[in-house]
Order: sequence, then C-alpha cells, then structure tokens
Amino acid sequence: MAINFRGLLGLLSLITLAASDDLPTLYEYYTEGGIKSGLSVDQPYFTLNGKNISIYSGAMHYFRIPPELWQDRLRKLRATGANTVETYIAWNIHEPQDGVFDFGDGGTESGGWADVARYITLAQEEDLFVILRPGPFINAEWEFGGFPSWLLRNEGIVVRTSDSTFMSYVERYFAQLMPILAELQFTKGGPIIMFQVENEFGFSSKIDMDYLQQLYDLYKSSDLVELLVSNDGPDVGQSGTLPGKLFQTVDFGADAKNNFDKLIKIQPNKPVMDMEFYTGWLDHWTEQHHTKSLEDFTNIYEDILAYPGSANLYPFHGGTSWRFLGGSNNGPGDNSGFNPVTSCYDFDAVLNEAGDYTPKYNVTRDLIKKYNTIEVATPDPPEVKERRVYDSLDLNGQLKFEDILKQVPDKIDSDVPLSMEMLPINQNSGQSYGYIVYHKEGLDISADSLLTITGHVRDTVMVLVNNVLISKPLTSSDVLEEFGYWKIENGNITLTTEDLEDATLDLVFENWGRVGFGNFYYQFKGLTDDNQVFLNDEELNSWTIYPLEFKKAWNQNLTDWGEVEESPSGPALYKATLTIDDEDDITDTFIDMRDWVKGFAMVNGMVLGRYASRLGPQQTYYVPGPWLQKGDNEIIVFEHSLTPASQIKFTKDVIFDTP
Ligand SMILES: *[C@@H]1O[C@H](CO)[C@@H](O)[C@H](O)[C@H]1NC(C)=O
Ligand SMILES: *[C@@H]1O[C@H](CO)[C@@H](O)[C@H](O)[C@H]1NC(C)=O
Ligand SMILES: *[C@@H]1O[C@H](CO)[C@@H](O)[C@H](O)[C@H]1NC(C)=O
Ligand SMILES: *[C@@H]1O[C@H](CO)[C@@H](O)[C@H](O)[C@H]1NC(C)=O
Repeated sequence: MAINFRGLLGLLSLITLAASDDLPTLYEYYTEGGIKSGLSVDQPYFTLNGKNISIYSGAMHYFRIPPELWQDRLRKLRATGANTVETYIAWNIHEPQDGVFDFGDGGTESGGWADVARYITLAQEEDLFVILRPGPFINAEWEFGGFPSWLLRNEGIVVRTSDSTFMSYVERYFAQLMPILAELQFTKGGPIIMFQVENEFGFSSKIDMDYLQQLYDLYKSSDLVELLVSNDGPDVGQSGTLPGKLFQTVDFGADAKNNFDKLIKIQPNKPVMDMEFYTGWLDHWTEQHHTKSLEDFTNIYEDILAYPGSANLYPFHGGTSWRFLGGSNNGPGDNSGFNPVTSCYDFDAVLNEAGDYTPKYNVTRDLIKKYNTIEVATPDPPEVKERRVYDSLDLNGQLKFEDILKQVPDKIDSDVPLSMEMLPINQNSGQSYGYIVYHKEGLDISADSLLTITGHVRDTVMVLVNNVLISKPLTSSDVLEEFGYWKIENGNITLTTEDLEDATLDLVFENWGRVGFGNFYYQFKGLTDDNQVFLNDEELNSWTIYPLEFKKAWNQNLTDWGEVEESPSGPALYKATLTIDDEDDITDTFIDMRDWVKGFAMVNGMVLGRYASRLGPQQTYYVPGPWLQKGDNEIIVFEHSLTPASQIKFTKDVIFDTP
C-alpha cells in the first residue's frame, strides 16, 4: 500500500486515487458511473448500485468510543477489508432531558458523543458503508435499552408498544433524528446502506405488531429510502418482522448453516445475513470474564462466509459504557434476578477495550480476503498507540460524605420518598443516573432499633447513622444476599446498640443501570412505590432528598477537600493528582482498582465506570489519552467502604479477575 494512503483518504472525493495497486476505493468501486440504486435483496445475494456485495460489517457503538478515537477505530475496521460499520443510535444520548435534543456538542452531558452525524461522516471518509440501528429500542446492554429514563415519569407508559404516549415521544425524537440520517443515505451520496427497525422484536415480552407497523410507517415517511430490515433470533420465525416490508436478518453466535437454513425457509430466494455474529460475550458482575476461543471464532465466521452469508461482527470493538450508562438484565418475577453488566464492554471482541489488535484481527482480515471477490484499495492497519503505566499516586484529598452533600445544588424536601425519576429537577426530567440520598435529621433512635425497607431495593443502599456507615460494604459476592442489596426482600438492619438522640439518618441508593432486555419492570431507582421504610413499627416519611448525579462540570468543581483520614467512618471521595510535564507523555492507560472495594472512578470530571472489585470480573478502568492534559489531571474515586486504598495505581493492560 502506498505510504501516503492515509493522507489521500481525506481527498478521495477530489482526486482519482492512483495508489500503488491502482485499485479504486470501495466507494469509487460501488459508485462508478453514478448512483442509481441502493442495497437490493431482489435476488439470492446482495447488490449495491447493481454490483454484487457481501456485507463484511463490524459493530462499533459511537457512544462507547471516545469521540477523539472514532477515526482510529474506524480505520482499524476498514484495514481488515471490512466494508461496513454498524452502530445503534441511543435515544438517551440524544434527548437526555424531556424535549432537550443534542445532535452536536449541545452542552449536555452527552458531549461529543451527541454528534452521531460526525461518526457517520468519518466512516465515509474512512471508506466504509454504514448500517444504522436507530431503534428506538436497542438493548445493546445499554441503560434502559437506549430509552431516556424521563419516559418513566408518564404514568402507565408502555415502551416498545403502540401506546400513544410512548409513540408521541418516539415521533418527536424521530422528527429530530431522521432528517439528519436521511441526508447521509447512500443514494443521496452518503454511506448509509441499511436501517434496522426495532431490535429483536420477536423476543419482546409484548409483541405488538401495530407498534412495528407504526415504526415502519415513521421510517418510510422520514424519507428513509435505503433497505429496511428487522433482526431476530433464528427461532422466533416471523414474530418480530413485517414480511414483505422488512428484510429479515438473524443473529447468532454459532451453528451458522442450521440458522441460515431456517432463515431461507421463511425468506426464500434472498441473501442471508447474521446481524450479530457474537465475537465473544458480555460480562455481568460476579461472572467470569467471557471469551470465545480463536478456533470457534474462526470456524464459525468461516461457516458464515462460506454459506455464503453476510455478517456483522458483534462487536468488532466493544469499548466502554462510559459514565453510568451501562445497562442491566433481569429475570422473571420479582427483582431478585436483577443482573447488571460491567462498565467494560470488551466482549473479547476483535479489538479489545483499549482498541488493541487481538488474535481475532488477523483471522478476520484473512477470512475476508479469502472470500471477498471485490478488489478495492485497503489501508494498512494503523499502528497501536503505546500505553503508559504512570507512577502510582498518593491520595491528596478526601471529601467526607456530609461535605459532598453540602455541594449538591438541588435538595428536595418531600413528605413521601420520591424515586430518582420523579424528582422535580433537570427541567422536570428527574434524575437519570448516579446516586440518590434520603436524609433525615433530629431522630431519636433507641438501642437495637430495626430499620426495615419493604420490597427489593433498587439497586443497593448504604445506611449511615450520624454519618457513620453501618451497613455492609460489598466485600464479597455473598454480601449481595444480605440487607442493602437487590436480591433480598423486606431487608432489615439494626441501627444502633445504644440510645441515640437527635441523630441523622442517610439512605444512599446507587443506580446500577436500568434493564435493557426482556421485561421492563422495576426501572425506577431509589425508593420507589414498592418500598416503605420503617423504623421499628413506625413508617418514616418527610425526607430531604439529595440527587447525587456526578455530572462532569459539578465533579470538576468539588471543593472543601480535607486530609485523608486513617480510618474513615463513611463513604467518601478520594483525590489524587496526575501531573504530566511533557505533552509526549500523554498516552492511554488503565487505572487498576483491585485495591479498592466498591464505587466509581473519574478522570478530570469524566466518570469512567462503576467498580466492584470483590465481584469482578472488571478490575481496570480504561483512560483514553485524549482525556488527559499536560499539567495536572484530577483522579477522583468514590469509595463506599471504610477501607479505601492508599494509592491510585495504573496498569498497561486490562485485568479481568473474579475473586
Ligand atoms: C453475483 O453473484 C452471483 C451469486 O454468486 C453470481 O451468480 C453472479 O455471477 C455474480 N455477478 C457478478 C457480476 O459477478
Ligand atoms: C498479524 O498480521 C500482521 C501483518 O501481516 C503481522 O505483522 C502480525 O504479526 C500478525 N499478528 C499475529 C498475532 O499473528
Ligand atoms: C430481619 O431480617 C432477618 C433476616 O435477615 C429475619 O430473619 C428477621 O425475621 C427480620 N426481622 C423482622 C422483624 O422483620
Ligand atoms: C461551581 O461552584 C460555584 C461556587 O460554589 C457555583 O457557583 C457554581 O454553580 C458551580 N458550578 C457547577 C457546574 O456546579
């Protein structure tokens, strides 16, 4: 490949590429002679603009990759010979508050992630086609399957159905989103060749065909002219699609021939596509890190290509569920089966969480080369950027829990305990993420008093009496079976062994991410309609509620740091300063949280993710270099337990460990 290929990529539309191979770019190949038609499934194979195409796609979610690194990851995908990138679009990124839209850096918490058009345009610059899955439901192990939490403020709303309240919000959101996407379609000169309507609708707990039809009509009336598809597991038949209107794809991680045969039975004489060929698997807390062997990956991918079929590698690069936006799964019945997913979304994918090449990379490249009959110019894989293990840092500040609360801007007095979503904050959109504190003062608590919270807590609660933590920190997965955690119902705890007068009581709830798949019950966080709090036999009401959202600007503004205590009495923030003198020393790194117990970490105000080292498997937190700066960088940890580590440590590579 010509040495200057990268520089040329940006000029592709202006010049005819005369690379050393004399090969056209992918885009030139498919648009030569003008664009007349998009992706067609009118024959047993795909064509694009009348030319044969097999779709070699990789999933990479723009909201899981630092925007500064989008281009690097896209080029790594293209360099395998893949011709397409696929991404979901997350509604909660683009409408973080009711009626507040962000499709650029609109100053919301979504920051650069809001600029989805830039991601699509970058993909085109990197010579990739694009498959979009705008949902509005996406699952993706993402918070609430992509839905904004403020939807829950509408009593009785039923998401993923034709419920008119839900649909009115979908229509309002699509009216903003779809014009942006319409302009970027292939037949209008953009890279988008396919849209997926909804996601695995055949697995929905409420199959409402009217809803699917209404979504289809919305896509159509939004001037989306490229191929519209559905995607479902291979065994749900046509229960999640609109035959004749949506082209059906399937998702599976193994057994390619059998699964494609099933698809051909219900959709004969059409090409076949695995919309999610699982490159590995996701991790819930307490599980062992999931992997898929190189051998399985190789054999199954080859089975798909040899069938012959098309596939979207799910994912090519998983990345990270930044901030508090990782989602959860659950089980049937009550909320004891709640099952949150780690912030790390490595997935054992083709690129790892930090964007390094794994052994699956060359296999992908070699298999695509073996089966692809279309010869176009392909860039060389970009060099992997070096990662640094910065020196361990001593802590240089502690902010006690009561001093954190003093800095919360909105506190709400309420007779009844409001859940996060129902708080009158964020322009009446409630609180979406983070922690919520229910605080009482002036309590007389007699010795051996019992605090009971009825129902299951959502999702965990710490109890502080006079600012002293009395509930059990998450020092092992066994603790999940005790008071303060979601598994048990009607849990209780003894508040004191002596009589206390004029005491304070704090209930500190953490939201571990809303469910994104299956049934959507139990999505409210904090104290909900299913919970009552009793002090012995007396129900406690009249709380002062503190939303602890940990938004970036607020995090960067925290003050009143004190000395680090030898033995803290409650959860606290701990701070360390990473000073980088030389611009060249700024690289990606990982923070190693193995010496810490439970909480979350942030860098320069940006929340990197939740940690729960005694649960595992995630032990390290990816810090992208572009988020570090020359000079001082503030690393802050919110530790729940009374045993904080004494240092912040770094590591070069990701560490998975389930104790
Ligand atoms: C397109 O693919 C089909 C199916 O493999 C094949 O029969 C046909 O010859 C191909 N057309 C071209 C122009 O290569
Ligand atoms: C992948 O291929 C590149 C280029 O051919 C080679 O330099 C590299 O060593 C290969 N990596 C592995 C793990 O085989
Ligand atoms: C308190 O919880 C324990 C289990 O942890 C249970 O055995 C006991 O009955 C509960 N007490 C009350 C009064 O509910
Ligand atoms: C930062 O702190 C100042 C002083 O306390 C306050 O006026 C301002 O609103 C804070 N900004 C944010 C984003 O919290």
